[in-house]
Amino acid sequence: MSVAVVILAAGQGKRMNSDLPKVLHPVASAPLLHHAMRSGASLEPEKTVVVAGIGFDAVKAAALHFDENAKVVLQKDRNGTGHAAAVAEQALAGFDGDIFVLYGDTPFISPETLAKMQAVRRQGHAIVNLGFEAADPTGYGRLILSVDGTLAAIVEEKDATASQRAITLCNSGVYCVDATLLFDLLRQVGNDNAQGEFYITDIVKIARDQGLTTAVVRCDEYETRGVNSRAELAQAEAIFQHRARAEAMDNGATLTDPETVWFAYDTVIGRDVLIEPNVVFGPDVTVESGAHIRAFSHLEGCHVSQDCVIGPYARLRPGAEIADGAKIGNFVEVKAARIGEGAKVNHLTYIGDATIGEAANIGAGTITCNYDGVFKHQTEIGARAFIGSNTMLVAPVRVGDDALTGSGSVITENVPDGALAIGRGKQANKPGLGLRLMNKLRQQRASKNEGS
Ligand code: UD1
Ligand code: CA
Repeated sequence: MSVAVVILAAGQGKRMNSDLPKVLHPVASAPLLHHAMRSGASLEPEKTVVVAGIGFDAVKAAALHFDENAKVVLQKDRNGTGHAAAVAEQALAGFDGDIFVLYGDTPFISPETLAKMQAVRRQGHAIVNLGFEAADPTGYGRLILSVDGTLAAIVEEKDATASQRAITLCNSGVYCVDATLLFDLLRQVGNDNAQGEFYITDIVKIARDQGLTTAVVRCDEYETRGVNSRAELAQAEAIFQHRARAEAMDNGATLTDPETVWFAYDTVIGRDVLIEPNVVFGPDVTVESGAHIRAFSHLEGCHVSQDCVIGPYARLRPGAEIADGAKIGNFVEVKAARIGEGAKVNHLTYIGDATIGEAANIGAGTITCNYDGVFKHQTEIGARAFIGSNTMLVAPVRVGDDALTGSGSVITENVPDGALAIGRGKQANKPGLGLRLMNKLRQQRASKNEGS
């Protein structure tokens, strides 16, 4: 049975008070929309449709960035969730299978939960809804169960009776429905309700009245958490981080002060990795086992291999590839560069667009001058090379295996294997001149002071 995913993302997000469409606000370094799309992608859908409205172009671009095959459709007037889902129909013409409806502002629906819904749907229920026990049900649609425990109806809070409002089992807004049936049912939904909107929730009762069965799958409340305000965005971030820290520790990493370590949605941390306080991971980072990430380091788009030591105060930017046992020390920035096995870049250095051979030693203050104002150029440093402190490597340039550069050199030409390159002004000593010069200056000051 094939699956399609429809993501409702046309809402205004008024309470965000933002120029950015709500679903593009980030949690764990990815827009909310991508989290929802990632949940949906776990079902390996044949088609994914994003229903966008506010900020259509930006939402469309973000959706296509995640999945270039996604269809993004415009919901011009936002007449409610039922109307939004119906807008997806055309993009799903000819599709025959199950449709999962998700919200673009609800980032944490797990693949396991969606798989459970799919399994229940395959037991023959026409609609499977995802419900949860709400600590505070205020604002949610309530799930009305029939005596046999199946779902009888969903009632919005604004339309609910007092006794219905006492129900704490709530609607997450996620559904799994047969495609043909869904659009059939949506055509029968009216807007005679407290908000004058077309509610997707009404399809449950309509289906029941036609003798179809509908069921509820329950999940943890946290999975259903949506974002409507900046405060809720911060709460979602906190929830994500709390879980990511716990997971990293469960997987055998030590976090000295977990509350100060920030992960991205896709951070991969190996076993026996030690992470000191105040470390931030941007997207696309893998840290292999036994590595040590020291305090105040910032990593994104990089790969740290086994037993490396990174930081304190290191910055690894996209394309940094650090081989086994290498050391990246304080105030070192690495971008688009491969640092060879056991190499050391320990202090105050910029390495960009470069490859550094195994066991090379890069002295303090070294800079790969990779940018000429228009183009970026490569620097290549051989195995076991020793780069003297404060060397400027003007790319494109190659320093050979076992080569040395003198401190303070500006290296503009390739250095052969095993050579010593010195590229700096020659030192000249003038005997006694320092002292004579100083005495002269002091005399000048003394006579000036007498004169005033
Ligand atoms: C909806 C459900 C409610 C459920 C709650 C869970 C309905 C009628 N109610 O209520 O039962 O408990 O979600 O959060 O479905 N959207 C559109 N176009 C629209 C309207 C909404 O794309 O015309 C999108 C929004 O961007 C949002 C989602 O649908 O992502 C939910 O809309 P929202 O207005 O927040 O629904 P609720 O009133 O919270
Ligand atoms: Ca909402």
